[in-house]
Amino acid sequence: MSAVLLGYELRTGRPIEVPVGHMAITGQSQASGKTTTLEGLVSRCGLRAVAFVTKRGEGSFRVASPIPPYFRDRCDWPFIKSILEATASEKLKFQLAEIIKICQHYSGPEGSWDEPKSLRDVMANAETALKKARGIASRVYTELFEYLRMVVPEIERLPYSKKLKLRTGLNVMDLTDYDFPLQALVVRSVIEWVHHNAEHTIIAIPEAWKFAPKQRGSPVRLAAEELIRQGAALKNFLWCDSQDLAGISSVLLRQVTVWLFGVQRDPREIERTLEHIPADTAKPTKRDIATLGRGQFIVSFEREMYRVYVQPAWMTGVHAEAIARGEEPVESAREIVRDFDLEHAGESE
Ligand SMILES: Nc1ncnc2c1ncn2[C@@H]1O[C@H](COP(=O)(O)OP(=O)(O)OP(=O)(O)O)[C@@H](O)[C@H]1O
Ligand SMILES: [Mg+2]
Repeated sequence: MSAVLLGYELRTGRPIEVPVGHMAITGQSQASGKTTTLEGLVSRCGLRAVAFVTKRGEGSFRVASPIPPYFRDRCDWPFIKSILEATASEKLKFQLAEIIKICQHYSGPEGSWDEPKSLRDVMANAETALKKARGIASRVYTELFEYLRMVVPEIERLPYSKKLKLRTGLNVMDLTDYDFPLQALVVRSVIEWVHHNAEHTIIAIPEAWKFAPKQRGSPVRLAAEELIRQGAALKNFLWCDSQDLAGISSVLLRQVTVWLFGVQRDPREIERTLEHIPADTAKPTKRDIATLGRGQFIVSFEREMYRVYVQPAWMTGVHAEAIARGEEPVESAREIVRDFDLEHAGESE
């Protein structure tokens, strides 16, 4: 398995490499430097990667190619079930019959319709069925219709690409203009595309607790779990970026081989983080996690554990090593970022 330079061990300045595999990175917003870490790793590992910007002010990707959002319409029942679960109040275990019905050709007491070819068709079928259905079936159709009514017009309004072209290095899709349900559909489309068409590709899932939650189904979770089960042979990897590990699908967490812990301050949050690390992985202490600084992570893999200052993509190794040893303050990074931004101003337009 190939390895990638993460950064330099605190105090000693020893270079620390990590295996390239499924990864989870956690830590307090802004104070830790998760996005900067992902970008640094991608810039050095030689694989292609796709990441997403989902909230405004997330200006941390600097060494990246912007690509248009990719979306592929799908209307098979497992997919429709997953989007319904993502929004419905509880797990819709017993309503499969209704979901399957509106995803196929149907003619019966609830109306008649053709096999849907798009989400808009599924929405129309749900609306037709809604008029005649009773009881729990009527609730399922209502929830489905309400959900689709939210996303379908947005999908049709916003520009997106039906083809996905990934360049080498880091590709970033800006989804800040989209509402969460549509962001999720784009992330899912990308995961599925990678699963079926790509090798040696990394997908960084932003806010994994929200996109691939433990408690309920979601389009991203469904696709991510499929990829993670089969992806390792093709060297497709998921990197989960999450302020909170506790909320992430356990199917995903079980496959993680490289753990990166950034600073967290709330003792209960730290405890929850530690609870989610598998028993055979080296565990940092609460104090270790609480005392980390910006850009500092504890990395844990294959029973090894190091405290590391992570080298950002825009910083030289020599400088990062000096920060790790404490010979340079971490604040010196600000000037480097500023110079980098000035030098590359206008490049991504
Ligand atoms: N290794 C580092 N060295 C110096 N500065 C860093 C480092 N990592 C991050 N920073 C700085 O810290 C700030 C926050 O970084 P970043 O956006 O990566 O954090 P994040 O953990 O992804 O935050 P969020 O959870 O809000 O997405 C940025 O200004 C970034 O330049
Ligand atoms: Mg981030």
